[in-house]
Amino acid sequence: MFIPSKTAFNVYSKFTTLRKHPSIAPLFPPIIHSYYDQTEVKLNSLGRLISPQFKRKKVTARELQDKKAFKNPWNATWISKMLILDDWLLKGDLHHIVFRKLALHRTIQDRLMNPNSPITQLVILGSGIDHLGWVFSDKYVCFELDIEPMITFKKKLLPTLNQKVHLNDFDATKNALDQCLKQQPEFNPKRPSLFITEGFIDYIPKDNLVSLLSQIKHINPKNEWMSTHFDRSLLSRNQRFFFEFGIQITGEQLQSNLDKEQVISIGSNIGFALINEWSNILELLGNRSISNEAKLNKIERKVLQQNNMNGCSILHFK
Ligand SMILES: C[S@@+](CC[C@H](N)C(=O)[O-])C[C@H]1O[C@@H](n2cnc3c(N)ncnc32)[C@H](O)[C@@H]1O
Repeated sequence: MFIPSKTAFNVYSKFTTLRKHPSIAPLFPPIIHSYYDQTEVKLNSLGRLISPQFKRKKVTARELQDKKAFKNPWNATWISKMLILDDWLLKGDLHHIVFRKLALHRTIQDRLMNPNSPITQLVILGSGIDHLGWVFSDKYVCFELDIEPMITFKKKLLPTLNQKVHLNDFDATKNALDQCLKQQPEFNPKRPSLFITEGFIDYIPKDNLVSLLSQIKHINPKNEWMSTHFDRSLLSRNQRFFFEFGIQITGEQLQSNLDKEQVISIGSNIGFALINEWSNILELLGNRSISNEAKLNKIERKVLQQNNMNGCSILHFK
């Protein structure tokens, strides 16, 4: 079975490669690496699920890894070369992927762990094959919503160990969010939730976004919303062409570009106030120095020291 959403696979494949770089790996906790280590062996580098029989052979081979008998296809040099090509076409894209994964992990964790925070549930919309629900379901009630074929795919991909995330099929252009969540006995609308839209709002029409946000507020006025925002009008002409062309060939449909002020205004009309925003890895890490510059390789330098791709930020609304 091939992954239905090529855009979700694109994010997965870039991140699982980048997260292994020596200067990038320590930025992420072991549980995130564990998710990708376990899912990589179930997925080939073209986005196809590997059959359990073939997987068994791979896992056995992996036990011999020290003897160099196992070659993880995800570690192939061509993948790193593709990343460099990607960053050449879409300057700043590698930084953007690592930045958004790092920012969301840290900000969600801070929000959930803050003793004064009322949030106890996490709902991830358009979750793709991301790690968020799996990682946080350890301590919090987590729901991942995506279109039906993606949910079927993810159920097969998810590591079973400690896996408590609730997966629900939901099409934001057709289904009502409250109805979908109501079908989940574990979802408690009386408890405030944090809703996440990572790399998602570009794929639904503006009217659906407005309706989705209204439903989030309607379910519980104390619900919060955290989203990535990507303003394509701030990209250079070439970058914008390669970005939009890249999505077009996946067969997925980008919707009209909303600038940040429009997103903030849509949120504000519904009762969501922007309380924080981030746009850079260095901003996230504060004064902590990353690593000795001389030791960084080409990809790490692009990720850790380049400016973010213009127009990418994480927005947190209450
Ligand atoms: C670019 S991917 C992002 C995946 C994930 N959030 C991440 O950042 O790694 C966009 C995701 O939105 C999902 N999606 C697109 N249109 C949708 C819709 N109408 N309803 C629900 N999910 C949708 C796709 O299936 C895909 O998983």
